[in-house]
Amino acid sequence: MLAQKLDKILIVDDEPEIAQALKLYLDDEGYATSLASDGSTALDMLVNEKDYTVVLLDISMPGLDGITVLKRLQDDGGDTAVIMMSGHGNEELAVECMRNGAEDYISKPFALEDILLRIERACAHRRERIEKRRLQQEREDFILMLSHDMKNPLTAVIGSIDIIREGCLGPVNDEQKEYLQSAIDSGNEVVVMIDNLLDIRKFEAGKIQLAVQACNAHELIGKIANQFARPAKHDGIELTVDLEPSCSEITVDKNAFTRVLGNLLGNALKFTPEGGKITVVCRHICGEEARREEIPAYASIPPDLPENGCFIKLTVSDTGNGIPPDELERIFDRYTQFTRKTGREQGGAGLGLAYCKLAIESFHGMIWAESKAGLGSGFVILLPCCSNDSGRK
Ligand SMILES: Nc1ncnc2c1ncn2[C@@H]1O[C@H](COP(=O)(O)OP(=O)(O)OP(=O)(O)O)[C@@H](O)[C@H]1O
Ligand SMILES: [Mg+2]
Repeated sequence: MLAQKLDKILIVDDEPEIAQALKLYLDDEGYATSLASDGSTALDMLVNEKDYTVVLLDISMPGLDGITVLKRLQDDGGDTAVIMMSGHGNEELAVECMRNGAEDYISKPFALEDILLRIERACAHRRERIEKRRLQQEREDFILMLSHDMKNPLTAVIGSIDIIREGCLGPVNDEQKEYLQSAIDSGNEVVVMIDNLLDIRKFEAGKIQLAVQACNAHELIGKIANQFARPAKHDGIELTVDLEPSCSEITVDKNAFTRVLGNLLGNALKFTPEGGKITVVCRHICGEEARREEIPAYASIPPDLPENGCFIKLTVSDTGNGIPPDELERIFDRYTQFTRKTGREQGGAGLGLAYCKLAIESFHGMIWAESKAGLGSGFVILLPCCSNDSGRK
């Protein structure tokens, strides 16, 4: 099969006879080949011209060796498929190459037909990879566009239902009120989901705009918790808030923090059966040791968390089914949900906690989950106190 003319191949080998033989053979097969006789020249060529389909990369070369070039290419995140060539068959080396992102590995001396087959396979894999990513991107863009466009009409629907529920358009009995409230709650859940999705994207693109400032903790946390008093009562769940008087200030963006605590309380309600309890506790902790004692070993510490100083520790715990230990870190990844058997339909998109993590880390804080099987879950937030600025990294 003759190669597509567009497939560009870079042959990187310090042995000119091998490089020339490969070049002549592959040119005959219809590929557009170029040569590099050392690692740094190859890197320059690959970084400047991103359109190489495949690079045939010798492992042992003077200067930059093949594995170093491979690692740099992976860091660069390009699409070029890398086939490693080694002078001595060595399984460990082959494994190391594959682990570092090589597409294939071949030992010298090799038959030219063999390398041709591998190149064809690498080209096909690369095309599939690019196509898959394109489709994924298209799907995500479509979801984002749809979500964005759905939000305004949905908010209008919720507003109209609320006007009816309030009795502004005529008398409404208690049963009707309850149904209308349930429609409002469901609509609001979708709005939160859309906001989470859109803001996660903004965080990732570095386009989120936050007004991080010192806020009255009692007022803010109390107000958010209040919004959950009615649904908690409706579900037969006891919601208590316990704020230490010394936790007077938190340094956050009010709207983002409201959404964070809202997501955590929403989850607690969703995953706690009737008769359960949800508790919001706020404590003040100080010093590096205190911080170290609080953070469990499995939680990875974000780079912006100050090393010392004082923190507000906010915990939202519930008496639901809890979270399996091996999911505690993963649940903060987008779209991560696991099945539980609480007998209630939970829904959701698996975006709430991903949003919480990005928002809390943008306040130079940290969030993690704790859980004991069957004993409920706790979500812990550490927020540096504003007087900490000297302790910030
Ligand atoms: N309090 C909790 N108790 C038990 N499991 C929880 C709790 N909070 C979160 N989880 C688990 O973590 C998963 C991810 O939570 P997250 O808030 O990101 O998504 P979601 O609530 O499923 O959907 P969304 O927030 O997008 O509506 C949940 O699906 C659930 O499996
Ligand atoms: Mg959620």
